[in-house]
Amino acid sequence: MSVFGFINAAGLLAAISMLGACDNIRPPRTGAKPSPVAAPSDGAGPVVAPAAAPSGQSAGFTPPGHDQIPDGPYGDIVRKGRDIFTDTRTHAGEFVGNSLSCGNCHLDAGRLANSAPLWGAYVRYPAYRSKTGQVNNYTERLQGCFMYSMNGTAPPAGSEVLVALETYSYWMAQGAPVGAQLPGAGYPKKFKPPQPPDYARGEAVFVENCALCHGEDGQGQSAAGRQVFPPLWGPKSYNWGAGMHQLDNAAGFIKANMPLGRGGSLSDQQAWDVAMFMNAQERPQDPRFTGNLADTRAKFHDDPNSLYGLEVDGRLLGSDPIR
Ligand code: HEC
Ligand code: HEC
Repeated sequence: MSVFGFINAAGLLAAISMLGACDNIRPPRTGAKPSPVAAPSDGAGPVVAPAAAPSGQSAGFTPPGHDQIPDGPYGDIVRKGRDIFTDTRTHAGEFVGNSLSCGNCHLDAGRLANSAPLWGAYVRYPAYRSKTGQVNNYTERLQGCFMYSMNGTAPPAGSEVLVALETYSYWMAQGAPVGAQLPGAGYPKKFKPPQPPDYARGEAVFVENCALCHGEDGQGQSAAGRQVFPPLWGPKSYNWGAGMHQLDNAAGFIKANMPLGRGGSLSDQQAWDVAMFMNAQERPQDPRFTGNLADTRAKFHDDPNSLYGLEVDGRLLGSDPIR
């Protein structure tokens, strides 16, 4: 049984605080000790939530708190959008093909700087995207998230799900300058490691710093049917078309936010190494797959940040697609 078997989703923060305090949680197989991720082990101090201790936090914009969502019909849609964002399967399950929620990668319900916050995104659309070769509006951007990050299908424009997510983003971005690249928007992906990323070193980083929560097999952990720690690869993860499969996005996200509660603790090299290890595992096929791996790589993955279609550690990535 999972050491987190007794935790429900609402107890997640309590669980994280316990990781530092509890003696009977076993270290991963290296024998590395789980590092404390929370403040005082007497349990009296404040829990270090991801929102409270992000690394490199340099947000030029502070979004409103959830207690500021207004009453009435507008507030109702905002709350609906927040619920979809933080528990996507429950509230928009028909469009979701894995066990992730939007909020797993956009932390603090899409509020956290350096975690591609919604307030940083909303004000920058419509925007040209090289991925689609077109100017996309915000609705189209959200549809892409469902197809790739959520390995599902795009909700139709104007559907309740997309309207709610747009309204939630609009509400969160109130007062943010339109068209600006705000500090803390996106993931901090513009840093490079001293050496090229390395699979074996990345595996060691994973075993020591990630497996405790995400599982030795990277499949995450669930309790009472709910995903408490999300999977990093395999059939329940993001697919080969998702932004997180790109090494720069993954390294930036990991460097700023992981291990959860200890963002900024890995070196640049460690963040890139573990991003490579994570993204050199199999995951669901790119929905744009043309039927031929080399062709699909040439068309959609002609980028040093993508390992799709390449051979790493003896495996030809994307050739064993889990659908
Ligand atoms: C597996 C992680 C993951 C999941 C799950 C995920 N996203 Fe994202 N999202 C990303 C990545 C990576 C990017 C690209 C960020 C970049 O290019 O800087 C992104 C980009 C975005 C953007 C544009 C951000 C910007 O600054 O331009 C929005 C909006 C967004 N996601 C919304 C969502 C929504 C809504 C969901 C759920 C339906 C979702 N995401 C699920 C990883 C994820
Ligand atoms: C203390 C537990 C914990 C540790 C240790 C940890 N994570 Fe996470 N990780 C989480 C949780 C919980 C989330 C989802 C956050 C949320 O929903 O607010 C997450 C989200 C993620 C995501 C985005 C969602 C997904 O599944 O794709 C990635 C990628 C990730 N972690 C990678 C890592 C890596 C790499 C390490 C090691 C360097 C690591 N994590 C260490 C708890 C942890």
